[in-house]
Amino acid sequence: MPRVIVLDPLAQQGLDLLDEAEGIEYDVRTGLKGDELREALTQYEGAIVRSGVKLTADVLEGNRRLKAIVRAGVGTDNIDLKAATRLGIVVMNTPAGNTLSTAEHTLALMLAMARNIAPAYQSLIEGRWDRKKYMGTQLADKTLGIVGLGRIGQAVAARARAFEMRVLGYDPFVSTERAKELGIETVASVDDLLPEVDFLTVHTPLTSETRSLIGAKQIARLKPGARLINCARGGIYDEAALVEGMKSGRIAGVALDVYSEEPCTDSPLFGMPGVVATPHLGASTEEAQSNVAVEGAQLLIEYLTRGTIRHAVNTTPLDPKTLAGLRGFLDVAYRLGLLHAQMSSGALERCRLLFRGEVAQKDTRLLCSAFAAGLLEHALDEPVNIVNVQLLLEERGICLEEQTSTEKGDFSSLIVAESYTDEGSYLAAGTLFGNSLVRLVRVGPYRLEAYLDGTLLIFTHEDVPGIIGNVGTIFGRHGVNIAQMAVGRERAGGDAIGVLNLDGRPPQEAIDEMLAQPHIRSATVVELPAAGERPAWMVG
Ligand code: NAD
Ligand code: MLT
Repeated sequence: MPRVIVLDPLAQQGLDLLDEAEGIEYDVRTGLKGDELREALTQYEGAIVRSGVKLTADVLEGNRRLKAIVRAGVGTDNIDLKAATRLGIVVMNTPAGNTLSTAEHTLALMLAMARNIAPAYQSLIEGRWDRKKYMGTQLADKTLGIVGLGRIGQAVAARARAFEMRVLGYDPFVSTERAKELGIETVASVDDLLPEVDFLTVHTPLTSETRSLIGAKQIARLKPGARLINCARGGIYDEAALVEGMKSGRIAGVALDVYSEEPCTDSPLFGMPGVVATPHLGASTEEAQSNVAVEGAQLLIEYLTRGTIRHAVNTTPLDPKTLAGLRGFLDVAYRLGLLHAQMSSGALERCRLLFRGEVAQKDTRLLCSAFAAGLLEHALDEPVNIVNVQLLLEERGICLEEQTSTEKGDFSSLIVAESYTDEGSYLAAGTLFGNSLVRLVRVGPYRLEAYLDGTLLIFTHEDVPGIIGNVGTIFGRHGVNIAQMAVGRERAGGDAIGVLNLDGRPPQEAIDEMLAQPHIRSATVVELPAAGERPAWMVG
C-alpha cells in the first residue's frame, strides 16, 4: 500500500482526503531536516510539502522508493528539481489555488504602504493621534507596473483596474492582445516600465533571469518617489539596493512579503518609514490553504493510485484518458527499447524513432521517453522511467531524434526504431494489433511477424532447407519448448532471420550447438516482459 508523508503543516481538508483515500496510508511529520528527513523519505512513495521543508539533492540522494512530491502551493524552489527528476520522481504543484489570495495580499500591501496603515495603528496604540504625520497617496490615476503577467500578475491587474489605476505590464510570454483584453498596456522591457510607474510589483518566479531584476541601476531609472511591492519571491529585488533607495529618498516605499533568506526577522528595511512587511503571508488565507491542501492531496492520490500526472513541473502531464489511449503504443516503444538494448552492440551514440500512420498523431514525445526507458532500464543501476529518462539520455550524450509521418504503409501504425553505435546500426519496427497485442514486424531488412514478449531467440542464417528443423531438434533435446516462430528473408536463398518465442531461457549449450550448425550466423537471446506485463509507470 503506497505511503504518503506530509512534511509541512497542511490544512485539515487535505488530510481528510488522504484519510478517506482507499489504499493510501499517511503520516504527518513536520520539521524534519538532514539525516532524519533523508531517512524518513525512504519509507514513503509520496510526499506533500509547502515551502518550509527543503528537499535538497542531499536528502533525496539514493532514494529508490519515493515516486512523487507534491508542492501544495506554486513555487517549487524548495525542491531540487534536477535531483528529483534524476531519480524519476514526479514533482507536481497546485498552481492556481492561492492566486486570488496572493493577488489580494499584493493589493493589501500596496494600500497599507500608500496609507501608512501599520505605523498609524502603531502610533495610535502608543497613545498618539497623528493625523498630519501619516499623509498618504491615492491609488486612483496612478500607474502600476507589473513584471510577470501570469496568474497572479493578471489578478493584480484586474484589481488595480478596479482602483482606477493605469496598468503597464511586461512579460515576454504573454501576448499584447491578451494583455489588452485585461486592460494592461504592455512595454517591451523592464527598463521601459521603470520611468513610468508610481508603483511596481513583480509576479515572476525566481530564476537566473529574474534574480536581482531590480537592483541599484533599475532603481535609478524609476520615477522618483515610486513604491515597490514584492509578493513573489525574495531575491527578485536586490534588498541592499532597496535599503539604499529608501535612504536616498529615491523610492518612497517598499512592501515585502518575501525575502532572499527566509525566515527573515532582521532586515535593515524593517522599521524604516515607508516600509511595510509581512512574513510570507500571500497564500495564508483559509481559502488558499484549503485549496492547495485539497488539490495537493488529490494530485498525490491520483498519481499513486491511477498514475495520473497533472501539474507536473518536471515531466509531461499524463491523464488517465491519455494513458489509456497511449498504453498500447507506449508498450510497443518500451519493448523496442528493451530489444535495442539487447541486440545492438557498441557504444550508443544516437537513436532515431519514426512514427508512421495513426501513431504519428499521438504524444510522440512520451513514446520516445518510453523507448528510451526500455533502452536504459537494464543499463543503469537506478530506476528509469518517463520522468528521468530524457535527463539520463542527455547526461550520456545520447541524442534521440524523432520523425513523424501520417502516411500509412502496410500497417495503420508503425514505430521504427534505429540505434547507431560506434560499431554500426540496428533497426527494428513494431506495431500494435488491436489494443494490446505488440508485434515485431521488421528487423533490419527483414519483414516478419513475431510476438514481442517473453524469451526470444533471434537468429540469422542462410535461407537453405533444414535450418528450422535442426533448430527445433536442438531445442527439443535440451527440453526448451518453442511457443511461436516467425521467419523472414530478403529473397529465396539469401540471408534470413528467425525469431523464436521460447517458454524459458535456453541453456548456453543449446545456443552453442545451434551456432555450430552450418549456415547459422548468429543467435541472441532477448528477454522481454511477458505479454501484458508492464512497468509501474505505464500501468497507472
Ligand atoms: P505564473 O507561472 O502563472 O506566472 C509567472 C509569470 O512570470 C509567467 O507569465 C512568466 O511568463 C513570467 N515571467 C517569467 N520570467 C519572466 C521575466 N524574466 N520577465 C517577465 N516575466 C517573466 O505564476 P504565478 O502563480 O502568477 O506566481 C508568480 C510568483 O508568485 C511565483 O514566484 C510564486 O512562487 C509566487 N507566489 C508567492 C506567494 C506568496 O505567498 N507570496 C503565493 C503564490 C505564489
Ligand atoms: C507559493 O509559492 O505557493 C507561495 O509562496 C505560498 C507558500 O509558500 O505556501
